[in-house]
Amino acid sequence: MTRIVAVSGSLRKGSYNTALLSVAKELVSADVDFQIASIDGIPLFNEDLEKQGAPATVTALKEQLAGADGILISTPEYNYSIPGVLKNAIDWVSRPNADIARVFHNKPFALMGATPSGFGTLNAQTAWLPIIRYFKLRPCFANALYLSAAHEKFDANLKVQDQMTLTNLEKFLTDFVRFIQQQKQ
Ligand code: FNR
Repeated sequence: MTRIVAVSGSLRKGSYNTALLSVAKELVSADVDFQIASIDGIPLFNEDLEKQGAPATVTALKEQLAGADGILISTPEYNYSIPGVLKNAIDWVSRPNADIARVFHNKPFALMGATPSGFGTLNAQTAWLPIIRYFKLRPCFANALYLSAAHEKFDANLKVQDQMTLTNLEKFLTDFVRFIQQQKQ
């Protein structure tokens, strides 16, 4: 069984990025344990708060990520970069610094994103590169998934109606699962 822990960088109910992960969960093969982790309820990072101990929401996310064979992020793009709520969650799970090796080093990692705009979160995904390097993740760059015009690709129930999007997502996931399995060997 290959375990993928997926994180959406949006908190809103109608999030295209969260919806994309829900569709992905339905598309992966039966031998994949696809878990969608939550960043909801994570407080703003503050070293004073950290001294009191990591919040339960942070510990839960961190241990879920630590137990993953591969991490998948669906990142929105805010102001050409990573949304604050997602970066905040990532900052929390990077603490203490000594835990980065256990949680992230050499972990297969894939990135995708959805936006109603035209560039498919290209800038936000690019903004992830220094974090990928710092965490010593193993990025799967086999295929990029930049989902633009998201409002035209999802229906009112947040299901993907666009066949090309479904095909691209399925290929993206198949390649990522294969990448994870190759790293495990
Ligand atoms: C945005 N949005 C946006 N989109 C984009 O493609 N590039 C950008 O730089 C930005 N900047 C931006 C800033 C802020 C503060 C907000 C609130 C929004 C639009 C964004 O892509 C859109 O709200 C998505 O729907 C957010 O993702 P979810 O919530 O649907 O997953």
